[in-house]
Amino acid sequence: MTEPRRARATEAFFGRRKGKPLRERQAAQIENLLPALRLDLKEPAPEDLSALFPAAVKRTRLEIGFGGGEHLIHRAAEDPSTGFIGVEPFVNSMAKLLRQIEAREIDNVRLYDDDATQVLDWLPPASIDQVDLLYPDPWPKRKHWKRRFVSKVNLDRFARVLRPGGLFCFASDIDSYVNWTLIHCRDHAAFEWTAEKSADWLTPFAGWPSTRYEAKARREGRGSAYLTFRRV
Ligand SMILES: C[S@@+](CC[C@H](N)C(=O)[O-])C[C@H]1O[C@@H](n2cnc3c(N)ncnc32)[C@H](O)[C@@H]1O
Repeated sequence: MTEPRRARATEAFFGRRKGKPLRERQAAQIENLLPALRLDLKEPAPEDLSALFPAAVKRTRLEIGFGGGEHLIHRAAEDPSTGFIGVEPFVNSMAKLLRQIEAREIDNVRLYDDDATQVLDWLPPASIDQVDLLYPDPWPKRKHWKRRFVSKVNLDRFARVLRPGGLFCFASDIDSYVNWTLIHCRDHAAFEWTAEKSADWLTPFAGWPSTRYEAKARREGRGSAYLTFRRV
């Protein structure tokens, strides 16, 4: 008898959750530090998101799929007056970031270790100043395009949580995904592309520290596009 197909537990996460076994110290940080920093989606979100952070923060940014966490930790350290919510379901990446948070005594980051759509649906309307989606899984085969994080339904989610004037920043080295994102945002009434000339999307975002996936793209000879859309 064939096994019944397992229902997917998440809407928009299709990747691996675990890699190599964690070292003892990493496992301890996942067990002890993550629960203190993890958003509790069973409780309603505070109306004012600054209540999530012990640091006094004036703005909030959301980074979806932070991977090695190079960008998130860099931004959090450079701007202590912004609260950062980082989402990453891959446990080895989460462990790497926790180590940095502890070593650098960062207190303006909150985390979530599952599908970012859950956080987006939990956040209050117009509560976020910027959404960063940096080198999202590209799903290059046409039959997998529907798995891409950028979609009409997820742009509706961004539009709900972003304040008017807030930004959606997207970077990718995969041309078909860059075009896909441009078309989806062009067709969405809540977003306008801020670029006026080609340098605007060929130049990395201000203060850009690069990421592991960007380094891989360069090694493999691919350039990147950096797209900024404004929530109108
Ligand atoms: C290609 S990697 C890029 C990582 C990092 N941003 C960088 O530039 O190096 C994409 C990351 O997105 C994460 N991811 C995929 N789907 C996600 C989802 N639905 N919610 C949150 N993270 C997701 C993956 O686990 C992976 O770490």
